[in-house]
Amino acid sequence: MVTALAAAACARESIDAEALRDPASCAACHPDHTREWAASMHAYASDDPVFLALERLGQRDTGGLLGEFCVRCHAPAALRDGRTRADLDLANLPREERGVGCWACHAITDVVALHNGGLERADDGVVRGRGLPDPLHTPAHASAGSRWLDGRGAASSDACGACHDVVTPGGLAVERTYAEWAESLFGPASPRPVSCATCHMISRTGLAANVPDAPLRRVHDHGFPGVDQALTPWPGRAEQDAAIDRDLRASLSSLLCVRPGPRGVEVAVTLDNLQVGHAFPSGVTHARRLWVEVRVEAGGAVALHTGRFAPGEVVSTETDPDLWLLRSRFLDADGAEVKHAWEAHQLESELLPAAVTADPSDPRFYHALTRRWDVAGAVDRVEIAVHLEAVGLELLDHLIEAGELDPAIRDAMPRRTLPSLALTWTLDRGWGCVP
Ligand code: HEC
Ligand code: HEC
Ligand code: HEC
Ligand code: HEC
Ligand code: HEC
Repeated sequence: MVTALAAAACARESIDAEALRDPASCAACHPDHTREWAASMHAYASDDPVFLALERLGQRDTGGLLGEFCVRCHAPAALRDGRTRADLDLANLPREERGVGCWACHAITDVVALHNGGLERADDGVVRGRGLPDPLHTPAHASAGSRWLDGRGAASSDACGACHDVVTPGGLAVERTYAEWAESLFGPASPRPVSCATCHMISRTGLAANVPDAPLRRVHDHGFPGVDQALTPWPGRAEQDAAIDRDLRASLSSLLCVRPGPRGVEVAVTLDNLQVGHAFPSGVTHARRLWVEVRVEAGGAVALHTGRFAPGEVVSTETDPDLWLLRSRFLDADGAEVKHAWEAHQLESELLPAAVTADPSDPRFYHALTRRWDVAGAVDRVEIAVHLEAVGLELLDHLIEAGELDPAIRDAMPRRTLPSLALTWTLDRGWGCVP
């Protein structure tokens, strides 16, 4: 809460184009928006040590050919006035140029490509938003309504999509969140599109600006919880943790079926992407690791235990051939696995696809994925849980080996067990499915 005095001072303050690019200059009048944003991955986008390490390695491996490709999305304000990657010390940018700041979104005037940061922005002292009805006058900035920033319309997703879709210079789509959304039941062709902002910017009643006489409005959360979290000290960790669980809880479901099978008992696990507006996981799916732990008991002994990894152990089908691991892999022209996007010709994925139709008679209606295990013996108990690593340890190990990442970062990578997907079946329930 700002005091009346501070609020009055803030109402008099006017700011120039330079200051409009700096999130710190919004804090006096938009304290909630600024605090929520400061905890987000948007704010962290170019502080992230994994990003910095991979960017350095990419520049090294390609002899600088990457240029400002990564910066365009991870720190767009650093590229103002025609600066190039060569002009930047990315790890030591001034605070106001780091990450995806207010300006990166609120100065958007046009979407020119639905990938690779295809956005145009203006430094004309105008802040674009959904367009508040009868906005209070402020000397700080003029305001304008823009369809690119109005979460009620599908066009606002294009503004997000310009960054949330990455295509390599060779034409390979390596992050497809926008494309996945566009093809889904939630996309623009649907009778009732649901924008990215509808799901990712939950609204509440509050103040759009903490200035005298400000009316109550619908305001939108700027914390943008996803699955990624800061690996170095950063504000708002506990709130973000809770928000990630909240969003995941309602969006995925699991089913566990246990029946007599050809070699004893067949255990089948089904995962359904109910309400994620795109595939899950999405975005940097080559780095994400989503996997299922299955523990089967027969007569008091463990008959199968897959998906169990010690803390710090790499999650991989190489050490656990029974593992159900959802991820993407980069392949070269001959189909051999390679480590990085700039070496890849193809992307091979197993992800939970989004719903594409609400019509139960459409064969595409059922889009859940099922994996089966045959287990010998008198099975009497099966437990499952689903786990997620936002960035798998394999990538971190590559970056550490390349000398680009501090090994201490590896220990900070959280491993999350997805809420409400854990299930237990016991023989006394009879053959069949839980829940
Ligand atoms: C001196 C106070 C002040 C400062 C500083 C300030 N704003 Fe505002 N802003 C306001 C007021 C007042 C409104 C209108 C609120 C209302 O009518 O409820 C507003 C409205 C907005 C809106 C909504 C526009 C719309 O109509 O949809 C956005 C977005 C916004 N500001 C962003 C920013 C950003 C980004 C910064 C920092 C670069 C910033 N503001 C700095 C006072 C300020
Ligand atoms: C990733 C893009 C993005 C970033 C970064 C961002 N905003 Fe917003 N902001 C939006 C969108 C989109 C809306 C409109 C949501 C809607 O209409 O559904 C919005 C709405 C607003 C509003 C109007 C009131 C409300 O909550 O709807 C204010 C004020 C605002 N933002 C301030 C800020 C400030 C200050 C920052 C930086 C500290 C910031 N925003 C960073 C996308 C962004
Ligand atoms: C119908 C709701 C819905 C819509 C529409 C939606 N999302 Fe999501 N999104 C989710 C949920 C639920 C998750 C998973 C929980 C979480 O991570 O917050 C998620 C996760 C994400 C993530 C984290 C990456 C990952 O591996 O899951 C990103 C990034 C993201 N969404 C961006 C977008 C963008 C960009 C759009 C629009 C093009 C969009 N989302 C549309 C619901 C939605
Ligand atoms: C200027 C580019 C840009 C724009 C515009 C943008 N984003 Fe992002 N967004 C990013 C980057 C870069 C990250 C990843 C930061 C990181 O994890 O290092 C990110 C992260 C996120 C995350 C968290 C992902 C995770 O895995 O935790 C969500 C959710 C998200 N964005 C949603 C949106 C939505 C919704 C919009 C539109 C209202 C939007 N973004 C607009 C660049 C952008
Ligand atoms: C088109 C915009 C765009 C470009 C270009 C881009 N990224 Fe990203 N990047 C994103 C978005 C959006 C996310 C968040 C996606 C998600 O949460 O799944 C992200 C996430 C990441 C992450 C995982 C989150 C983290 O930081 O731990 C890394 C690492 C990363 N990017 C590195 C890079 C590197 C290196 C480059 C250049 C080779 C690059 N990105 C180019 C938009 C972009």
